Amino acid sequence: MNKKEEIDVRDMTIDDLAAVFHLGEKLFTSEFSQSMYRTWDEYEITSLFNTETELCLVAELEGEIVGFALGTTVEKQNSAWKYGYLVWIGVRPGLQKGGAGQQLFVEIRHRMIEQGVRMIVIDTDADNEGGIKFFKKLGFDKMQQHVYMTLNLSKPKKPRKARV
Ligand SMILES: CC(C)(COP(=O)(O)OP(=O)(O)OC[C@H]1O[C@@H](n2cnc3c(N)ncnc32)[C@H](O)[C@@H]1OP(=O)(O)O)[C@@H](O)C(=O)NCCC(=O)NCCS
Repeated sequence: MNKKEEIDVRDMTIDDLAAVFHLGEKLFTSEFSQSMYRTWDEYEITSLFNTETELCLVAELEGEIVGFALGTTVEKQNSAWKYGYLVWIGVRPGLQKGGAGQQLFVEIRHRMIEQGVRMIVIDTDADNEGGIKFFKKLGFDKMQQHVYMTLNLSKPKKPRKARV
């Protein structure tokens, strides 16, 4: 039996929160992505779990959490469109390219469709080549680049030049 057949995608439960958090810490390191490293924290998972329970999924293999997909939906005023936002998806490093990510995506897409979603959006770093190839394989297209900037508030401000 291959790993794909053994992986079970199911609802995330409160008992899975710690395992999902720690798996994310392994994936979203500062070397992998500064932006994902900065925004992955326990509040991110708990708030999605509290508000979007149906869109919080885990992949389980032999009793261990090996993947997760966490999403939400966005509705615009004056628009018939409901958007699904796949906020986080991750698979344990040793098991990547084994089909778990796709299984998670197929299930979350199914759930979003049931909730009336007409378009799914994702975002990731421009240099996350593996992630981008994965999303393209799943049918995502019309890639647009956006800029991510930071303002370091702990640095002393440069003195302003005096106006003459
Ligand atoms: C992106 C990620 C979730 C994909 O999960 P996965 O279990 O490895 O993906 P799958 O095995 O289901 O792959 C599905 C398809 O995408 C392709 N794919 C997945 N990762 C790929 C990679 N790094 N390079 C090229 N193709 C890739 C697979 O080959 C497969 O295509 P196929 O059906 O033609 O074989 C996983 O690599 C991961 O956790 N990455 C780090 C976290 C991340 O970047 N998350 C996305 C932003 S939140």
